[in-house]
Amino acid sequence: MGWQIAFAVCCVCAAVAILLLLRARRAVEREHAEVIASCDFRQSMFETAVRQSGDGILILDAQGEFVLINDAAKQTLGVTTADLEMGHYDEAVTGFSEMLQREAILTAAAEGVGETQVSHGGGIFRLRFTELRRGGREMGAVCVISDITESFKAEDMQTDFVANVSHELKTPLTTVKSYAETLLAGGIDDAGMAREFLEIIDSEADRMGRLVRDLLLMSRLEDREHKWELAEGDVALLIKTVMKKLDGPARDKQLVVNRMFDEEAVVPVDMDRDRMEQVIHNILSNAIKYTNERGRIDVDLLPLDNCIQIVISDNGVGIPEKDQARVFERFFTVDKARSRSLGGTGLGLAISKQIIEGHGGTIGIESKAGKGTTVTVTLPKAWSRGRSGIL
Ligand SMILES: Nc1ncnc2c1ncn2[C@@H]1O[C@H](COP(=O)(O)OP(=O)(O)OP(=O)(O)O)[C@@H](O)[C@H]1O
Ligand SMILES: [Mg+2]
Repeated sequence: MGWQIAFAVCCVCAAVAILLLLRARRAVEREHAEVIASCDFRQSMFETAVRQSGDGILILDAQGEFVLINDAAKQTLGVTTADLEMGHYDEAVTGFSEMLQREAILTAAAEGVGETQVSHGGGIFRLRFTELRRGGREMGAVCVISDITESFKAEDMQTDFVANVSHELKTPLTTVKSYAETLLAGGIDDAGMAREFLEIIDSEADRMGRLVRDLLLMSRLEDREHKWELAEGDVALLIKTVMKKLDGPARDKQLVVNRMFDEEAVVPVDMDRDRMEQVIHNILSNAIKYTNERGRIDVDLLPLDNCIQIVISDNGVGIPEKDQARVFERFFTVDKARSRSLGGTGLGLAISKQIIEGHGGTIGIESKAGKGTTVTVTLPKAWSRGRSGIL
């Protein structure tokens, strides 16, 4: 009886041990499967990220064979899948940069070049090279190509902008300083001369004041948080007000300024009144400044289906064709000396464009050198009237 009980206990123990062993093995297998699954997952995450990256990415093994080249790289380099399949990659990429040939990538990465810039087809590209190593062994290289044309241009524009602002402030400051010195050196005793010099100092100070005011306004309008104070107003009345304000300068040059729209017209627009007045004032004062004596200026206002158009044309000096696209750039003037003598800094149309676009409209210019210029502003009609069919 004793040995039978002992045998039964041994059997039970053996069965339990086998069960425990089986369980442990299953746990190990499960863990193994999870590790494999997570590796696959990581691999597929990595591949998706590389494939979808906006930067061009090339991964090469130590022999210079492609492990991966994403679509962005193919597109940027102008390399087709056929080029890759037929082994024509190195020739295909030569026009872009010889630094992107496979051997050159491996060498650049091994030599720790880090990054460099190349220009191609009007664009600027940054190339970054990284060597792939495992356990001290060279495994290949990664090259990342980023298109940095826009940020390069923005940096350039910023540098130009600072240079322009400094120059525009330096000129009147130099004038103020030299006239003040002349006055201090004895000029003040000559009443006639003193008055003349003080008037110049006063007008140069005004000029600096205008410049600073324009710069502050531009930076406010550029702020993404800027809130437009839009309220329904009559743009016809606003144009008539500006025409009245500029009547003096127009008369001084014996210009004929024609209002082409009806005196009674009422054209409602959702607008920031002060800013809109500034736009119309700049366009009309440009027409006055750049039209010779006894010239003609027409001011028209056209209500169209969903928008209105303000059209101001003159038969003045016009703008050469090569300069027309640039007149909306900050500080651009066709003739620096002429504009400066007329008190301009070349910010008027740049600010006008910012304002009109802030109102959901457009501004364009057409001109013929020696014949005249037409500026057209298009604005959406006020919601409450024009677009609901009341006007
Ligand atoms: N009606 C026009 N006829 C001829 N040239 C024009 C006309 N309007 C603008 N321009 C040209 O475009 C340039 C830019 O105009 P913008 O209004 O930006 O500057 P500005 O009048 O010189 O100075 P600001 O407006 O800052 O006082 C002018 O300097 C001028 O050369
Ligand atoms: Mg102007």
